[in-house]
Amino acid sequence: MPCSVVLGTQWGDEGKGKIIDLLTDEADIVVRYQGGNNAGHTVVVGDAQYILHLVPSGALRRDKVCIIGNGVVIDPPALYKEIVELEEKGMSLKGRLFLSDLAHVTLPYHRRMDEAHEAARGDAKIGTTHRGIGPTYADKFGRIGIRMGDLLDEQVFMSKVRRNLAEKNVLFRDFYHVETMGEAEILEQYRTYVPKLREYITDTVSYLRDAIKANKRILLEGAQGTFLDVDFGTYPYVTASNPTSGGACTGAGVPPNAISRIVGVTKAYTTRVGAGPLPTELPPAEDERLRLKGREYGATTGRARRCGWFDSVVLRRAAAINGLTELAVTKLDVLDELDSISICTGYQFGNEVITEYPGRLEVLEKCTPIYTEFPGWKTDTTGIRKWEALPVLARNYLEAMEKMVGVRISMVTVGAERTATINRP
Ligand code: IMP
Repeated sequence: MPCSVVLGTQWGDEGKGKIIDLLTDEADIVVRYQGGNNAGHTVVVGDAQYILHLVPSGALRRDKVCIIGNGVVIDPPALYKEIVELEEKGMSLKGRLFLSDLAHVTLPYHRRMDEAHEAARGDAKIGTTHRGIGPTYADKFGRIGIRMGDLLDEQVFMSKVRRNLAEKNVLFRDFYHVETMGEAEILEQYRTYVPKLREYITDTVSYLRDAIKANKRILLEGAQGTFLDVDFGTYPYVTASNPTSGGACTGAGVPPNAISRIVGVTKAYTTRVGAGPLPTELPPAEDERLRLKGREYGATTGRARRCGWFDSVVLRRAAAINGLTELAVTKLDVLDELDSISICTGYQFGNEVITEYPGRLEVLEKCTPIYTEFPGWKTDTTGIRKWEALPVLARNYLEAMEKMVGVRISMVTVGAERTATINRP
C-alpha cells in the first residue's frame, strides 16, 4: 500500500517539518490534508532555513509533487507569498504544485471574524493564530463556504461573497462592533491573486486515485497535532480541523485501506502555544530553561511556547486514535544538560489515579501529573548518528517512553539539520 501519514501527537510544533522532509526522500507525492496558514513547519537545509505555512514540506525537494488537499483552507495572498519566497530561493513549484478545487478559501472577512471573536471571548479566548482558520471551517460546515473551484469564475465567486458579506457585516456592526467590510476589498484581492494561482487549481482527488493505482508513494502530512484536533483535542482550546489520521483520508480523498504506515511525531518533552490545559506544564524557571534551549517560539506567530515533561497518558491516547505504527522523537538534545528528566505516567484526580486521557476539560483541569524520574545523561548528543552510540541513560529514557506508549521509536532527532537524525534499524 503506497500511503504513509506523518502527524503530530501532542499540541503541534513537534518538529514534523523535519521528519516530513526526511521521509519525502522516499516519496513521490506529498499532500497537506488539513489546517491552513496557522501552521508553521520549519525545515533547515544546509545554511538555509525555510518556514512553510501552507505549501507541503515536501516542496524542498525539487523532484516531488506537492498537493494541497481538499481538507486544507487556503488564504490566496498567503499562499502566493510562500510560492514566491520559495521561487526566490530557487525552489520553483510550477508544474508540481496542485491545489484541490474542493479546498475552502480563507477570505479577509474570516480573519476579521477570528479577531473579533477572540476579542469578544475576553479571558476565555482560545489564543488563535488570527489567520481566520476557525471562521473558514465554520463557513464550510455551515455550507456557505467558498471553494478554490469557485475562484475560477469571478461571477460565481462574487455572488457568494456578496451573500456572505451581507450576513457577516450585520455581525461585525451590530454584535462585535468592529468595522464592516466592503466587497471592493475582496474583489481587488481576487483580481490580484487569482490569475497567479489558477494554473495550480485542479481535481486532486482523481490525481491521487490515479497515483495510488500507479503505486506511487504518497506522504500525507498533518499540521498541528492530535490534541488540537477539533474532536479529540482539549476542546474548545483546539484548532478547527482534524490533524489525526482519519483527517488524512477525508482531507485528501484517500481511502483508509491505502494507508499502511502512520508515523507519530513527538518531542522528547511537551510544548503548547495558546491557551488551554497542559497537564505537565512546568513552573516558570524550569519552563524557561526548556524554552531557551529548545528555541520554543512559534514559527507562525513568534509566541513563546509553554513547556512541560513528556506525558505518556497523552501519547497513549494519540497512539490509539491515530493507529500509530511508529514514533519519531524530536529534540532529544534539548534534554542533554538536565540532571533529571520526568515522564508523566498517570494523573491524580482527587483520590483516583487516571491512566486514560479524560475527554472532559473539567476533569483534565483538576488532574495533577504523577511522574517517574529518570537520571539525565549529561552528554552532548548532537553529533550522534547511531542508536547504539546514544548514552545508555538516553536510551533508557527513550525505551521507557516507547514502553509506556506501546509504539516503537524508529527515528530520533538531535538537531535541526537534516543530518542530525538517528534512524533506528
Ligand atoms: P487557530 O488554528 O488559529 O484557530 O488556533 C487554535 C489553537 O491552535 C491555538 O491555541 C493556536 O495556538 C493553535 N495552533 C494552530 N496552529 C498551530 C500550529 O501549527 N502549531 C501549534 N499550535 C497551533
